[in-house]
Amino acid sequence: MCGIVGYVGEKNSPEVLIDGLKKLEYRGYDSAGIAFFEENEINIIKSRGKLQNLINKINENKKIHSTCGIGHTRWATHGEPSHINSHPHGSKTLAIVHNGIIENYLPLKEELLSKGYNFLSQTDSEVLALLLDYYYEKDPIFAVNKMVEKIKGSYALGIIFRDYPEKIFAVKRDSPLIIGKGKGENFIASDIPAILKYTNKYIILEEGEIAEITKECIRIYNRDNQLIEKEILTATWDENAAEKNGFPHFMLKEIYEEGEILRKTISPYYDGNINFKFQNITDENINSIKKIHIIGCGTAMHAGLIGKNIIEKLCKIPVEVHIASEFRYSETVIDKQDLILAISQSGETADTIAALKKAGDYGCRTIAVVNVLGSSITRISDDVIYTFAGPEISVASTKAYLVQIAIMYLLALKISEIKNLISENEIAENISYMLSLEKKINQILNNSDKIKHFAYDFHGYENLFYIGRGLDYSIAAEASLKLKEISYIHSETYAAGELKHGAISLITKDFPVIALATDENLFDKMLSNIKEIKSRGGKVLLITTENIAKEKLSDRKEDIADYIFQIPETKHLFIPFVAIIPLQLFAYYMAVLRGCDVDKPRNLAKSVTVE
Ligand code: AGP
Repeated sequence: MCGIVGYVGEKNSPEVLIDGLKKLEYRGYDSAGIAFFEENEINIIKSRGKLQNLINKINENKKIHSTCGIGHTRWATHGEPSHINSHPHGSKTLAIVHNGIIENYLPLKEELLSKGYNFLSQTDSEVLALLLDYYYEKDPIFAVNKMVEKIKGSYALGIIFRDYPEKIFAVKRDSPLIIGKGKGENFIASDIPAILKYTNKYIILEEGEIAEITKECIRIYNRDNQLIEKEILTATWDENAAEKNGFPHFMLKEIYEEGEILRKTISPYYDGNINFKFQNITDENINSIKKIHIIGCGTAMHAGLIGKNIIEKLCKIPVEVHIASEFRYSETVIDKQDLILAISQSGETADTIAALKKAGDYGCRTIAVVNVLGSSITRISDDVIYTFAGPEISVASTKAYLVQIAIMYLLALKISEIKNLISENEIAENISYMLSLEKKINQILNNSDKIKHFAYDFHGYENLFYIGRGLDYSIAAEASLKLKEISYIHSETYAAGELKHGAISLITKDFPVIALATDENLFDKMLSNIKEIKSRGGKVLLITTENIAKEKLSDRKEDIADYIFQIPETKHLFIPFVAIIPLQLFAYYMAVLRGCDVDKPRNLAKSVTVE
C-alpha cells in the first residue's frame, strides 16, 4: 500500500525523501510525489509510474535546496494512477500525504464543494487536504484535531503547513506510521527500512496521536491534546538487511537467508526450555484451551495451515484456520476458552487487525506471531511471539513464512509440554532436529540449478496444479500462491485425492502438475493420483524425499514422473521447512524467465493496510 516519508534536518530533503521512498517501493505503488519547502514556499513535484519518473522530474528543476519535506508512493484506490491523483495533495497553505482510505469522503467532498472548494483529483485524500485548509487558522494542531473529528476510515498522514517551513505534522489511525529520531534531524515513515540509513531509533505513533516534528524536537500530543512522553525503540535490523547485497532480487536473497533466520528465530526461544515470556497468558489458561483459531491472510494464513497440522498432532487440540477477511464478518462459534493465534509478517494487515479485534470481543486470549517490532497487531494482542526474519522487502513472502511455521512448531511443543504430552528430552530432541534443518535447506539452495532447469521447461504454461496430501497439501497451498503472485501463471492447489472428483477434467498436455509426495505412508496413494494425471497426458514434476525415491521408485523413476526433485531425507513432521524451499525457488525462476517484476508484482502491495 502507499508509502509515506518525511524529513526535517540539515540535508537536502528531496534526496532523503527519494532515498526513503526507494526503501518503501516494496509496499507496491503506481505513482509518487514529494512536497518540500523552498524559500518558504511549498513546492510539489509528482509523477505517475516508477520512482525514476519522479527523480527525472526533480532533476529537471534547478538545484533544489530544501531541508524539510514529505514524500509518498501511491497505490491507487480512489481514482486511476495518474499525475493528478498522485500525492502530495494540497492547497496554497499546506500539503499532505496519506496512506489509508477515508470512508466518508463523498459527503465531506459535497460539504467542501458547497463551501466553494474545488477538487482537482478523484482521490479521497484530497478531501483531507481541503478539510484541513478549511479548519486552519494558523494553528496546525487545532486544524488536525478538527479534521480528525470529521473523518471516518484509516489514515496515516504527513502534513506540512506553509506558515511552518521547518515542521512536519503527522497523525494516524489504523495505518502504520513511525517517527524516526536522528541527531539534528527527524523523520516520519510508513516502515522502518525507510529510515534505517539515517537512524535506528524510532517512536510508534498510536491511534489518534498527533506529532509535531522539527529537526531538534519531536512533540507528541494525545487525543486530549496533552503533550506526552513516548518510548523510543531501537530497530535491531541493520541497513544492509534492507539491501540486495549482490542478489538480483530481494526475493532470492530472502530465500537464501532462510536457513540462518530459522536458527535466529528458534535459538532465542530455547534455553533448555521453550521460554516464551507471556505477560497475560498463564499455563492454566493454556491447559483450559478448548480450541485454537488461527487467523491470517495469504502466506501467513498458509503458515497457519501448517500450524493446524502440527498442533493437532502434538497437542490433541482442535485447530481451525480462518482467512482473516472472512473471519471478521463470519458467525464462527467461539468459546471464551478458545485461543486465538494471529499470524502476520507486517503486523499491519487491516483484515488481520479487524479479525483480532473481533476475537478480543469474545473475551478469548490472543497471541500474535509477528515480524515487525511494535507494529499495530502487537499492540492489540494479549501476548506476542516475534519471528526474527529481519526486514522482508520482496512482496512475495518467503523467509517470513519459514519462521512463522517455526513458531507454530515451538508453540505446539510448548502447549504439549504444558499438557504433559511430551517430555523435556523429547522437546530438546525436536529443537535440535529443527536447528539441524539449516544444513538441509542450504543443501537444497546449493542445488538450485536443477530447479532453474525445471522452471525453464515449465515457464511457458499458463495453468498448473499443485497437489498433495496431509502436510504436503498445506505446503502446496503456499507454493501455488507464490507462483501465481509473481509469475502471473494461474495455479491452484488440490488435495490429490480430490482431483478425480472434478478438476481432473482440466488435465491435458498443456496443464501440468506439481505433485508433492514426501510422506512415506501416503506415497502409494499419491502414486495412484499421479498415474491418473499421466494417463491423461499431464506432465508431472514430483517433489519427494531421497528415501522415498530410493525405496519406492528405484529404477522406474522415468515411468512415474517427467521430472523428480529429491529433498534431503527429513523426518516427515518437519518436512515443511525443507519442502517449501524448492517450491519458492521454482516460483522465483518461473517469474524471472517470464520477465516479471519479481519483487514488485503488479497490483500487489507488501502490507495490505486497507480492507
Ligand atoms: C505473500 O507472498 C503475500 N504477499 C501476502 O499473501 C501476505 O502474506 C499477506 O498479505 C499477509 O501479510 P502479513 O503477513 O503482513 O499480514
